[in-house]
Amino acid sequence: MCGIVGYVGDRQAAEFLLEGLSKLEYRGYDSAGIAVYNGENIRVEKCVGRLAALREKIKDDVPQGTIGIGHTRWATHGRPSDVNAHPHTDCSGDFVVVHNGIIENYLALKEALIEKGHVFKSETDTEVVAHLLEEVYNGDFEESVREVLRRIEGSYSLVFMCRQHPDRLICTKQDNPLVIGLGDGENFIASDIPAIINRTRRTYILNDGEMAVVKKDAIEITNRKGELVTKKVFEVNWNAEAAEKGGFEHFMLKEIHEQPKAVRDTMSQRIAKDGKRIVMSELKWNADFLNNFNKVYIVACGTAYHAGLVGKFYIEKLARIPVEVDVASEFRYRDPIVDENTLLIVVSQSGETSDTLAALKESKRRGAQTLALTNVVGSSIAREADQVLYTWAGPEIAVASTKAYTTQLILFFMLALYMAEIKGTLPDDEIAHFVSMLQQVPAQISETLSDVEPIKTFAKQYGFNEDVFYIGRSLDYDVALEGALKLKEISYIHAEAYAAGELKHGTLALIVEGVPVIALATQKSVYEKTLSNIKEVKARDAVVIGIAAAGDEELEKYVDHVIHVPETDELLIPILTVVPLQLLAYYAAITRGCDVDKPRNLAKSVTVE
Ligand code: M6R
Repeated sequence: MCGIVGYVGDRQAAEFLLEGLSKLEYRGYDSAGIAVYNGENIRVEKCVGRLAALREKIKDDVPQGTIGIGHTRWATHGRPSDVNAHPHTDCSGDFVVVHNGIIENYLALKEALIEKGHVFKSETDTEVVAHLLEEVYNGDFEESVREVLRRIEGSYSLVFMCRQHPDRLICTKQDNPLVIGLGDGENFIASDIPAIINRTRRTYILNDGEMAVVKKDAIEITNRKGELVTKKVFEVNWNAEAAEKGGFEHFMLKEIHEQPKAVRDTMSQRIAKDGKRIVMSELKWNADFLNNFNKVYIVACGTAYHAGLVGKFYIEKLARIPVEVDVASEFRYRDPIVDENTLLIVVSQSGETSDTLAALKESKRRGAQTLALTNVVGSSIAREADQVLYTWAGPEIAVASTKAYTTQLILFFMLALYMAEIKGTLPDDEIAHFVSMLQQVPAQISETLSDVEPIKTFAKQYGFNEDVFYIGRSLDYDVALEGALKLKEISYIHAEAYAAGELKHGTLALIVEGVPVIALATQKSVYEKTLSNIKEVKARDAVVIGIAAAGDEELEKYVDHVIHVPETDELLIPILTVVPLQLLAYYAAITRGCDVDKPRNLAKSVTVE
């Protein structure tokens, strides 16, 4: 995830900027840069690669000056490269900006600015902000930044420098974190607390829509209307390690809580302005392109494979195209029937999973058209595939995949709606209905995360059981598979997911008194059938925790406990029901004292076969 730092004071800015950025390295990045005002101009130095590469680049000529900004970039718009690295400048070099987040209307703004003669250097959405500031600048830095904010849409934390006002930095945020560190005769800005806690523990945490003018000995914060805001100083008492995790005990928990934002970011720019259609500007598919395929394969590993199972359901249900899903390590060795009439979709958070990459290469060799769904711009899989759709989840550090899964589901749902519109398999009003339901998902995930106490209690109660079973039908079964994987990998409890209707074909023999069964029952078309399966396990004295949609008053009659998630369309509910399962696995692992972020025998990125 991108990192931001800023400094204004009497010391050399570059020293803090490089130090602050190094404290954000754990978040992952692909390029880095700094900008420092040297008494005459703002000097920008940036390059692709690690901070060490930037240090090497400037080692004999470190930018001198006491005010500056810095950035580590995790690519979203445009591949990792020197020109795409931040900071970004306008045409004159007088306006310099660093940015975390996504400017959703950047293409329209960019076109308008190009018409006015602005020359762009990078492929990023961020560069638009610098040119826009140049365009609207009227001599009043603060007022001009406000005008920029009125014109941009999206999520951001931004820090601006202006050569004409070398005594101040201006920063603001919307849906991305930003903090100001209070020093003595100097002040700091950072996207995250670890960057500044070596220098100060006294901070102002900015709220959405607030804008701060930060000078070395004064900070003025205003709200959207320009009214002064009086802020309380927030004293950071976390240690450096806790600060890296944003105050959460583990990266996994932090990433679970990041899901509303990750899902919102992944949707951004992919919903038409009228809110009724899906726009996939990356693809530009038409009916001829889609009709060319007699087969769609989804191939992936682990959690990404589980997302693929849901993806199959979405594409078949909404776009009426048959899809086969396979684990990459099996697919590549079974001489799959793949040719130029095949669309191969690979899914990979890291974009580096060896089996998935090999399946992709093999399918290309056989003539397939390929599409990658991945989270890492410029990854091997992104480079190898013919086309790419990115999940904008930000880096996932915990080995157990959480926000990658929910963003993959969102992306598959949008892809299926996009295909449905092209194929004409869904009426416009139904597509519009689904798009409006989709937009409610981030808030519904937040709601699901707002009360974790019952889940903690279950985890304590059942965390020492030898075996746990997950059952469900239809999409509930796909989510059950993911829930069981989460529990296995981080708590080391033996967990099995079963299609509920399959129990009586063997597994029911394992259900005895006290065995915990997590039963998902959200799919209306199979609800009654699922209830019958729940009764089967209850009759064997299993302890059943049901997962249901809000408003379901039936399930509680047959189970021991119920966890409700907000009501939504049953196609979208997997994005909600997986959240309590992630939390259950997390708290079970905590109960057992496991190393949640780095479970035994597992690696985050599996680059060997
Ligand atoms: O980076 P990828 O999405 O390709 O990784 C695939 C699997 O290795 C990954 O999902 C793995 O199953 C996770 N540890 C699950 O939490």
